[in-house]
Amino acid sequence: MNEKTILVTGAAGFIGFYLSRRLMEQNPSVTVIGFDSVNDYYDISLKKERLHILEEISKKTNTGTFCFIHGNLADKKLVDSVFGKYQPEIVVNLAAQAGVRYSITNPEAYIESNITGFFNILEACRHSYDNGAGGVKHLVYASSSSVYGGNQKVPYSTEDKTDCPVSLYAATKKSDELLAYSYGKLYQIPMTGLRFFTVYGPLGRPDMAYFGFTNRLVKGETIKIFNYGDMYRDFTYIDDIIEGTAHILGSIPKEDKNGVRHKVYNIGNSSPVSLLNFVDTLENCLLQEGIIAQKGERELLPMQPGDVYQTYADVSELEKDFGFHPKTSLEDGLSRYAKWYKSFYLK
Ligand SMILES: NC(=O)c1ccc[n+]([C@@H]2O[C@H](COP(=O)([O-])OP(=O)(O)OC[C@H]3O[C@@H](n4cnc5c(N)ncnc54)[C@H](O)[C@@H]3O)[C@@H](O)[C@H]2O)c1
Repeated sequence: MNEKTILVTGAAGFIGFYLSRRLMEQNPSVTVIGFDSVNDYYDISLKKERLHILEEISKKTNTGTFCFIHGNLADKKLVDSVFGKYQPEIVVNLAAQAGVRYSITNPEAYIESNITGFFNILEACRHSYDNGAGGVKHLVYASSSSVYGGNQKVPYSTEDKTDCPVSLYAATKKSDELLAYSYGKLYQIPMTGLRFFTVYGPLGRPDMAYFGFTNRLVKGETIKIFNYGDMYRDFTYIDDIIEGTAHILGSIPKEDKNGVRHKVYNIGNSSPVSLLNFVDTLENCLLQEGIIAQKGERELLPMQPGDVYQTYADVSELEKDFGFHPKTSLEDGLSRYAKWYKSFYLK
């Protein structure tokens, strides 16, 4: 990574923040170009806090440099100018409209960020080789476990069919994988897609269930549990996601049988937990930190449109290629999240 310029889109977001931080802390000569629209899909103060931390790290000696660009990926002119000015060797596209339920009421946001925005990144990568320039050596982009839709077979393998998405969000992520493959074939751009499985941790996303549960429990409100609690999620702690992603960044995929350097990995804990078990563990961690005084009331409700019954990652490819397997237990991960929540919201 030394001396490299790395473009991280979605740097004000949950995963982009942690990745940018790790890249700067571990590689003093790296320059991270953070790109984000800082949209108000969830509490902007959290995004500002993440950017503030990155800027503070950048000021330290012995860390890499952070340079932030506030902009929208759908703005092709801007994306092209960023590639022209900084000429990144590695691009990590994490900016996206995330969330399954929001796609029911705001479908346009998914097309703008996940389709048009990603297309602009692909085009900029393609033209990064113009006139004999070195260009982008590796494009790594976020996909999602949601591409597995209602897959019955577990654990979910990257060999499984993923052409039955049950939400628009999933359909855009699957489309990204297909667009990426075609650009890999046409323009020889080395690319890796990462299917993340339910990521959680400190400075996480307030739109996600664990965060929403916490907020309601703190206020003494009833928490809503869908499919009567009969749902399983492969909760993955943020440090494990970053560790896996960092391994992958520096490793360009080998050519497949069509001569395309495109590979997809699952990054998940590979140990699904039932929603009821998850809520119990969360409540225990919140009780331990004194954030709540007692367990909350639960309202059991039917399944919501767009939701899937379970997610469960087969991470054997990650183990085979990088010797890496996520290791953080739910108890440890939620305990760290609870400590952070207390320090950030209840000081
Ligand atoms: N967190 C998870 O559990 C999870 C699971 C599967 C996949 N993913 C994927 O991982 C990536 C990162 O997720 P996250 O949890 O950090 O989400 P996040 O919402 O915290 O971060 C995404 C960032 O992208 C920015 N953004 C959105 N649209 C943009 C646009 N058009 N131009 C510029 N910036 C834009 C947002 O402002 C936000 O800061 C996303 O692609 C997401 O779909 C996340």
